[in-house]
Amino acid sequence: MSDDIISYSSDKKGIVTSKNIPEDISPDIVSLRPTSFKEYIGQNDTVETLKIAIQAAKMRNESLDHILLHGPPGLGKTTISHIIASEMEKNLIVTSGPALEKGGDLIGILTNLGDGDIFFIDEIHRIPKIVEEFLYPAMEDFAIDFIFDKGIHARSHRYRLKQFVLIGATTRVGLLSSPLRDRFGIFRTLDFYSVEQLVVIIKRSAAIFNTIISENGALELAKRSRGTPRIANRLLKRVRDYSQVKSHGKVTKQSVQAALELEGIDGLGLTSLDRQYIKTIIDFYKGGPVGIEAIAATLQEETDTLVDVVEPFLLKMGMVLRTSSGRKASEKAYHHLKIKPEL
Ligand code: ADE
Repeated sequence: MSDDIISYSSDKKGIVTSKNIPEDISPDIVSLRPTSFKEYIGQNDTVETLKIAIQAAKMRNESLDHILLHGPPGLGKTTISHIIASEMEKNLIVTSGPALEKGGDLIGILTNLGDGDIFFIDEIHRIPKIVEEFLYPAMEDFAIDFIFDKGIHARSHRYRLKQFVLIGATTRVGLLSSPLRDRFGIFRTLDFYSVEQLVVIIKRSAAIFNTIISENGALELAKRSRGTPRIANRLLKRVRDYSQVKSHGKVTKQSVQAALELEGIDGLGLTSLDRQYIKTIIDFYKGGPVGIEAIAATLQEETDTLVDVVEPFLLKMGMVLRTSSGRKASEKAYHHLKIKPEL
């Protein structure tokens, strides 16, 4: 049945277990997740492509092509995979690139997949190379090639797999090798959501939480959610707490402003890390251009966090510009932080 969600992840010893469900699929978030494309808001072109592919596969009684979903965290890559599994009425098996430490971790999952099962690998760009090589024949021929012995005694044995569907999710498509990328028949990039779309998502989530939210409250929250439903839903919980304790439960524009000020989130949704990132470029590197490694070293942050989590929204907002010689703070960034550009 479509509701059978089996989650695999690796414990410290590299053993694949069904424990350690990532935050992304914790029951709290799952309850806010739309379960069908009918309920799903936004990503219209992607949803249309997937609906057509699903309908065609069903008409031909075939399984779907492998699907690669790309985009910043929190835009719905995992949610879409849940919906695909549900619409195809198949099991969803979830793991992530870093959890697949050894070939055996992947083989254990692949050999247990049923016909048409949906196998979701989050952060697929972080699969070790040695594990990735098992994926090529698995994706293309639904087979695993085992090699026994070495040199002139080497023998290979082909193990047949069921026809599964791989959904890979990545924040960094550039880090995927081309043999892996080329084996996906459907490749979609998810975009940030508009404020209007986030308003609809926030109202839907508030209704699920039995929380009353005013039109202006939803609008204010949407404007501060960095174009990201996961952030909108997380902030809604903080705002709901604040409103319950400080203003009789109803979420209003004022309670959103007050609650999010406490969270360090400003009127455009920038967090303190976003502001520190911009200030670093301006204060330490005269507004740029400066390399990402230098910014990461000054901030004492992981480069990956800046590239995957911080930069996409700042680039989208036009606060930061990426040039061939490095990152530059834009005029808009100076204006937002009320800093006068040096002449
Ligand atoms: N909750 C999180 N993402 C959503 C989406 N795209 N549509 C509806 N509800 C959501």
